[in-house]
Formats: sequence, structure tokens, C-alpha cells
Amino acid sequence: MPHPDSPAPSPHDADWWRQAVVYQVYPRSFADSDGDGIGDIPGVTSRLPYLAELGVDAVWLSPFYPSQLADGGYDVADYRDVDPRLGTLDDFDEMVATAGRLGLKIMVDIVPNHSSDQHVWFQEALAAAPGSAARERYVFRDGRGERGELPPTDWPSSFGGPAWTRIPDGQWYLHLYAPEQPDFNWDNPEVREDFHDTLRFWSDRGVAGFRVDVAHGLAKDLRAPLRDLGEQRSYQPDALPVDGSHPLWDRDAVHEIYRGWRQVFNAYDPPRFAVAEAWVRTSRRTAYASSDGLGQAFNFDFLGARLDAGELHSTIDTALADARRAGATSTWVLSNHDVVRHVSRYALPVDYTKQDIEAWLLTDGREPVPDRAAGVRKARAAALLMLALPGSAYVYQGEELGLPEVAGLERADLQDPMWVRSGGRVKGRDGCRVPLPWTGEGSSFGFGPGGSWLPQPADWGQYAADAQNEDEDSFLRLYREALRLRRTLVADEDLKWQSSPDQTRRGLLWFARANDWHTLSNLGDQPVPLPPGEILLASGPLPDDELPPWTTAWLRTGSASAR
Ligand code: NOJ
Repeated sequence: MPHPDSPAPSPHDADWWRQAVVYQVYPRSFADSDGDGIGDIPGVTSRLPYLAELGVDAVWLSPFYPSQLADGGYDVADYRDVDPRLGTLDDFDEMVATAGRLGLKIMVDIVPNHSSDQHVWFQEALAAAPGSAARERYVFRDGRGERGELPPTDWPSSFGGPAWTRIPDGQWYLHLYAPEQPDFNWDNPEVREDFHDTLRFWSDRGVAGFRVDVAHGLAKDLRAPLRDLGEQRSYQPDALPVDGSHPLWDRDAVHEIYRGWRQVFNAYDPPRFAVAEAWVRTSRRTAYASSDGLGQAFNFDFLGARLDAGELHSTIDTALADARRAGATSTWVLSNHDVVRHVSRYALPVDYTKQDIEAWLLTDGREPVPDRAAGVRKARAAALLMLALPGSAYVYQGEELGLPEVAGLERADLQDPMWVRSGGRVKGRDGCRVPLPWTGEGSSFGFGPGGSWLPQPADWGQYAADAQNEDEDSFLRLYREALRLRRTLVADEDLKWQSSPDQTRRGLLWFARANDWHTLSNLGDQPVPLPPGEILLASGPLPDDELPPWTTAWLRTGSASAR
């Protein structure tokens, strides 16, 4: 059933994405229909009513394409098919049709920087001679050293080790990720054409939009001689050059590729939409979100920010201004399949950096012992903050259940290539990809009739969706109520700050939007008096008309305009 509070969005509404709530499904870990331990497309279809009831607008599926799973499916062997373990194209069509009946849109992940080494083109390239057209679809080069025994450049793989692998005839090929993920040569028109066909293939099947993987990596400087990176080897988005002159990342030429994509998107009614995964300097994010480009870009600054009022205030302002400049809306993300789940991040000391969190994972989450209660409280407060901001919110599966990171996975169970490629220095991303608990009891806690490809913790049932459904104080009910209200409240794309600089210094974020919708987040350590008004929703109890630390409330103050 479409959500009762609003008519289903018109299928021709070109702006549906601007303030959408998009739910990210990691298909292998969502729901398994056939008991092989791997989530699949019929599993997703069977749970679409749950997502409609949750109140999201769209579902983005991480890759479900044929893949040897060297990188969780981000190594695609065929861009226009479904992995047989996950179903068939007919299953996909059935999913899109069911989603349509429920008023949900489907988005898919496109992985254009690299394919799988099992892709027919790469197999052809390996069989072909150096310099052949087949090799020109990827990046093959001779090595350095007397016998070409050294990699062509010092470029590193993002998963550790060099970005080059040598093949038996002596040439090397480029892979900025795992060796099973050879990089395409985007200077080659055949590659460009082929991706246009892939975008049309899924658009024709009713897909509403695309999430674009490594959107900032496609246009490389491949002119001879290739340049070493030297000091630029360690990749930090904020350290990338402002002028787009890095040989690999965020080069200006990438936008010409997306202008071509935009023409493909605009041939549809409504135009297809895309969001860029681009880990670039904040000031250069706008270009990916422009209306003649992809349309929207992930804002990971919000995800990376500490729960500190001052830091969030400026992160939010920057993101809104950037999006406005691009004619887009901002995105808000707290978790995804690449980061430690935020309930667990917030349960660690506030000043913890990414490196500290990686070190914590290596202790299997024991040192320090996370403060679960604090993590839950902060995550609930952050959720209501995020869902009140103008723009689109991206919710990662299980976030609505308050799932923690499974930090204690055994080494032998780890599947993320980061673990092996880093030589055991980085435990990787499996802990946020453990299959969901749907029921408190039963095989794999309702994930499916068999086991699960990553082991679920013994106490996983305590987070199950069915029990949370019955508990009005649960995470699930908080998300559901927030999404229901959000639909009725969203009327503009702006906010007005109400908190004074002094209040912000003491930890209060307070903003208002049209419809007299006020959001107050207390991220300080002292309770804050609440302004008079009608409380619409709160992330925790509000004793004595006060907003306790680590709590967010939505309210109506009774004044039509923001004060
Ligand atoms: C970003 C994806 O989110 C991540 O999971 C993947 O490993 C890399 N891109 C490479 O495709």
C-alpha cells in the first residue's frame, strides 16, 4: 500500500529525489528467499512491504550483478544481468513492479571505474596481444626496470599494495582497488558507449536512478609518460589539489563523461537521477551534483563529523550552500556498507578518529568497551537531526533497527579484500554487512530458511524487526514515526537557524523550517529548556519540559514563521 499520509509520488515527478528518503539495501545481507545463506532479489521483493511501511521513498540496491565477489559485488562481471545466486532478470522485473505498486522507486549501483577480471572484455584483453584494441579498453602498460619487472608507476591500490598486477606476457594492468577489479580506460569511446547502453538497459527496466561508484576516479591522466604520485600517494580527499590536477582522482575531465550520461538520463520521463559517490574536496563536490551532471553527490562530511554542535552547524551550512550552488539538494548519510555502524561509532570516545576506530576493530571491539547506551542515545538523536534537514536522507539497512557493528567477527570469516590486502592491518567492512535479524527466533533470525554468509552474533535476535514492531520505544518505531511526520512536514528546501552562537557553543542546534517545524538537538552536557510548543517527536524522554543531553526533539512553536 502506498503510504497513507501522502499520495504516491507521480511517476512523472522529475523532482522526486530532492527530499527523498532512500534506503540502501546490501542485497546479499538483506533477505534470503532460498536458504543458500545469501540474500537475493526475491528476498528483497518479499520485504518491500516492510520498507513501504517504514515510509521510505526509494530503495537503492548495492550491486547484485554476476560477480566472483572479490569486493562484495563491486567487481562486476556482467553489467546487464543478475547474479544467478541472487535471482534472474525476471525476479528483478518482479521487484520493480512490486515496488511500483507500493509507491517505491528502485535505484541501482553502477560501477564504472572498474569491472571484474571475469568480465568478458577483460578476458578478451588477457588473450589479446599488447597494443590490441581489446587491451585498450583497460589500462595495460609495460613495466619499468631492465626487464619491465617493476610496476609502471608508484600508484597504490586503495585496498593496500600496488595498483598494478603483472600478467604472463610481461605487461601490467591497472587496478586502483583489488587485482580482480581492473580499471577501465575511459579515454576509449567504446567504454563510454557501453556504459550508456547499460544505463539505458536499467532505465528501460523501470529503474529510477543510479548510485555511481567511485564517480571521481574515471578520468585519469594516462598520457605517456605516466606520472608517479610521490608525496600524493596517500589519498585524502581534503588534500587533493584544488585545480583538479591529480593524475588519478577528481580530474575536471570526468564531468564531460557525466554530461554524456545526463543526455541519456534526460531522454526518459521522468529523467533518471544519479548520486555520485565522490570522495573529493568539499569545495569540488558541487560539480558532480550539477544539473548537467549526475544531479546529486554524497556529502560524507556529515558522516565524518563528530557529534559536536559547532562542527555540525558548519558542515550543514556548507553542504546546503554547495547543493544550492549546484541546483541540487544535499544528501545526509550516517552509515553505509563501507563504514562502522554509527551506533557503535557513537559508543566510542568522542575524539576517536578513523584510525582509532580501525584499531578498535582489531581488538574485536573489546578495547575500549563501547558504551552501548550512549551509542544508542546519540544515534537516535542523530537520526532525528538528519531526517529534519533539507535534502535527501540515505538510510543504510539495519540502521532503523539500531544495529551495532559486529566487531567480533573471527579472522577466518572475514571476506573484505581490505583484510588480506592490508596484511591484517585493517579488519575491513564485514562488520556492517552481517545479515539482518528479522525475527527473534528461527533460522538465521528470519534472514532466510538457511544460514547466513557472515555469521550473525548469538544475541542478534534482540534487534529483530518483529519485536521492535511491537515496542513503541524501539528504534524502528522512531524511524517509522519520523518518516511519517516528515512526509507531512516537508514543504521547503531551506532552514533557518534559531540557536545563537552562544547556544551552539554550549551544544544546542536549533533550526526551523516552513510549516513551523522546529528541530532542537542538544549535543551538550546540560539540559536545555524547551521553547513552548507542541512536541511532535523526540528521540528520548523529555522530563520537566527540558531537552536532556544527546536528545533531539521536533516541535511546533505555534508561530507560523520561524522566529
Ligand atoms: C566504493 C564502494 O562503496 C566500496 O564498497 C567498494 O569497495 C569501492 N567503491 C570499490 O568499488
